[in-house]
Amino acid sequence: MNRNITSIVDGVPVTGAPGGRITSTNPAQTSEVVAEVSLGDPATFVAAARAAREAQSAWADVPAPVRGRAIAHIGRVVEANAESLARLVTREIGKPYAEALGEVREIADTCDFFLGEGRRLYGQTVPSEMPDKQLFTFRNPVGVVGVITAGNFPVAVPSWYLVPALLCGNAVVWKPADYSPACGAALAELFVRGGGLPDGVLNLVMADGETTFAGLEQALGEGYIDKVGFTGSSAVGARIGELTGRHLQSACLELGGKNPMVVTPSAELDLAVEAALFSGFGTAGQRCTSLGTVIVHESIHDDFVARFDKATRQATVGDPFSDVVFGPMLDEKFAGRFGDYLEWIQPHHSVLGSTATGRITAANPREGFLGDPDAGVFCHPTIVDGVREDDAIFCNETFGPLVGVTTYRDLDEAIRLANAPGYGLSSAIYTTEPAEVFAFRRGISAGMVSVNNSTSGAEAHLPFGGNGKSGNGSRQSGVWVLDQFTRWQSMNWDYSGRLQKAQMDVTELTPDESFRLAD
Ligand code: UN1
Repeated sequence: MNRNITSIVDGVPVTGAPGGRITSTNPAQTSEVVAEVSLGDPATFVAAARAAREAQSAWADVPAPVRGRAIAHIGRVVEANAESLARLVTREIGKPYAEALGEVREIADTCDFFLGEGRRLYGQTVPSEMPDKQLFTFRNPVGVVGVITAGNFPVAVPSWYLVPALLCGNAVVWKPADYSPACGAALAELFVRGGGLPDGVLNLVMADGETTFAGLEQALGEGYIDKVGFTGSSAVGARIGELTGRHLQSACLELGGKNPMVVTPSAELDLAVEAALFSGFGTAGQRCTSLGTVIVHESIHDDFVARFDKATRQATVGDPFSDVVFGPMLDEKFAGRFGDYLEWIQPHHSVLGSTATGRITAANPREGFLGDPDAGVFCHPTIVDGVREDDAIFCNETFGPLVGVTTYRDLDEAIRLANAPGYGLSSAIYTTEPAEVFAFRRGISAGMVSVNNSTSGAEAHLPFGGNGKSGNGSRQSGVWVLDQFTRWQSMNWDYSGRLQKAQMDVTELTPDESFRLAD
């Protein structure tokens, strides 16, 4: 089915296409159009933010347990539509179908977690320093949240923002990636219909990045936006952080990663290889949590690399509706950028993992490729061995199927190398030594640490987020994300019948700190 997609503001599809029209195509078969999209302009974003502002207080008046019920219904509707939503994810961004089903599962998991939060959303009662006075805390919704997301997780990662933001009583303007518009429109419809959300509570804006930025700037200027959630590149995240900071607003930033995997001499090598394959090349290396560099102990380097090369050569690449390790790139744009990263390969590197590098085509084939490589946007998996600390490939995220390999001599060096690129999202260590696990955990700058597991594949109810170039310390998921979408309000209530002054009218005890026990 070919879809026509528009922005939706206050429950009404926006007519016309002030930002132009684009088509979304299937990256495994680029001749197939998935959706025709009418884009909005900055005014569309502002109108969506205004509609959200107008709808928000009535939504916040809906009791939190009732909002929790809306989240419960959304989860059920998503489950009932799991196969068709997963098929759409596979068609629009080329994620292998089994992974796409997992992505849809992640939305339901997020709903499962937050449906009960509607009956908690706890505040506290706190003792006062004076009698006949009581202190309280309340979580208030922040107001209107602008959510801007990438298309590598076109439905799960948006749900990490939408679900808690709505549960907490906020209204939302959501701008999905312009290469996953059909997934965005489908998810928004599941939320609005499944949750029975009133008009204006969830607005959808279809726009390109610069238009969105201009619209966000205007909406912030008009006072319509109170919080921004952004998942995408570190470069754009820095611009969004700067923009929101100018308006004294904060952004929840989930950015890139150069995620290390340390493989120690005690590691189960086959397990480490399996994880390197999945975390490096699953989703064609296009997760923010994808493996960047394997940091392997020098004593096992040759053995590890031989096994990793073999496993990667044997991995099936191709048609994402088949059983493959990875399918196409998300979109032509990502294949182009990946080509630029390949230019960072230097003579001191050895390149492994496939029959060639770059685009997989009939003329530049990959052995065992499943399907017609010329029909889509496929790239060879590439292992770059011998990377050094000052190589561009070592220092920067290379969003795509590329894994670097370097060596270390002692764990301190491994940790230093793991932190050196300055990102700090995810990390992994393969070891059977508990002391190494805890030394790594303590030394690594990443927000997430996997022990004998992939760098990718975080579960939906642990804090998710990074440090350094990977984010500004905000955390999504689980109870931790509540601090993104609510603000604490404190209340004190004095029922003594007089003005009791804090710090001044406090009862003094008479301690004797000079007292010592007799020997
Ligand atoms: C992302 O790529 O932005 O941990 C998120 C993982 C997934 C989420 C990745 N659950 O790999």
